[in-house]
Amino acid sequence: MDRIRIVGGAPLMGAIPISGAKNAALPLMIASLLTDETLTLDNVPRLADVAMLKRILGNHGVDCMVLGKRAGQNGLQGESIELRAGDIVDTVAPYELVSRMRASFWVIGPLLARMGEARVSLPGGCAIGTRPVDFFIAALRDLGAEIDIDGGYVIARAKKGLRGNRIVFPKTTVGATHVAMMAASLARGETVIENAAREPEIADVAACLVKMGAKISGAGTSTIRIDGVDRLNAARHAVMPDRIETGTYAMAVTMTGGDLLLEGATLAILPTALDVLTAVGAEVTATNEGLRIRRNGNGLAPVDVTTEPFPGFPTDLQAQLMALVSRANGTSHIRETIFENRFMHVQELARLGADIHLDGQMATVTGVDRLKGAQVMATDLRASVSLVIAGLAAEGETVVNRVYHLDRGFERIEDKLGACGATIERLSG
Ligand code: EPU
Repeated sequence: MDRIRIVGGAPLMGAIPISGAKNAALPLMIASLLTDETLTLDNVPRLADVAMLKRILGNHGVDCMVLGKRAGQNGLQGESIELRAGDIVDTVAPYELVSRMRASFWVIGPLLARMGEARVSLPGGCAIGTRPVDFFIAALRDLGAEIDIDGGYVIARAKKGLRGNRIVFPKTTVGATHVAMMAASLARGETVIENAAREPEIADVAACLVKMGAKISGAGTSTIRIDGVDRLNAARHAVMPDRIETGTYAMAVTMTGGDLLLEGATLAILPTALDVLTAVGAEVTATNEGLRIRRNGNGLAPVDVTTEPFPGFPTDLQAQLMALVSRANGTSHIRETIFENRFMHVQELARLGADIHLDGQMATVTGVDRLKGAQVMATDLRASVSLVIAGLAAEGETVVNRVYHLDRGFERIEDKLGACGATIERLSG
């Protein structure tokens, strides 16, 4: 198993190209199931989760072709891929695949809408909480599907097709909003989704569906209207920049000091997190090329932050913020409200010298003068990267074990940070 070795202490200086967003790329790839024509996606990040989803879609009969490099492209740009679900040969998504990546459960929406049936394994538990699928089931029932759960599988049927309806989510949910929007695109009549997730990735997927011929308005707000159409067609779409990768590198440079240009990132994708970073001590400037983040000369200030659905502070940056304020001059409070078990990084950050007290969903972080390198263990994707940024600011050597978690969601992290002055390397095996 690969490990990452970091020697901390160097400021980060230079430019980092921000990759396409994992959490947009995955539903965009799943949207290819909605049509028998080719969906071409540009700026797809090279990530383990993307590779896994190619396998899962292949199992349903989707041909996936990675396009060759074009003049002027360097290795840091994303891939262009063509996905073609000419014939769906299998409407079953088996446990072996779905249990490895929760988002693959989302194939249930397009499979049901196009084929009138789907049999998808329940995803099971994961490192950050139980994450049930009740909102998906309720939404698909609203669209007229019959749903049974048997032997660990959700069996969904709509032999006469789905029909538009009003869907009201009791709680904001990114995944079920994606699935309801995709399924309703091929339903008969109008669907209105209320309390829809407002994450930018929802708007990105909607923009692609509209290029494919769907009739969707309001994506990115809490009310989405969809007028169902009979079929969708070929389209080409570029995946939006990854706001969590952006926020992660922004936190890294705020922690180590220095000056980074995060190429391709915009203020709009990270409203609250950038305000929090400014409060902690970063200087954030929007430029034509991307966001420039500098650490001002002062120390780091403590903050009180609660994770919330977009446009609030994202749960996917909670671990990284905790690493950052572990060096603040004072006590910070971080409350996690989205997932019930997303604090696995706390004990690993403590190994580096952080002073964090957990009480239910609230972490109290008392800033310390210095962190000291140690061996640490990655537990989930965002937790792992919090250990990397803490390692960049710690004295001496940090080794992050179980790096495969990082490879699920961060493209070439050691190359990107290494090019900006960090001492970081991958140790194979
Ligand atoms: N929930 C239910 N029932 C459901 C669905 C969700 O109770 O049927 C609960 C969840 O347990 C959670 C809350 O609703 O407490 C919100 O979950 P949501 O459905 O919004 O999360 P998700 O779609 O499973 C996506 C991202 C996550 C990100 C969350 C929140 C992707 C592939 N995943 O997950 O990203 O943390 O939204 O923003 O888009 C990551 O990238 O590391 C990651 C975990």
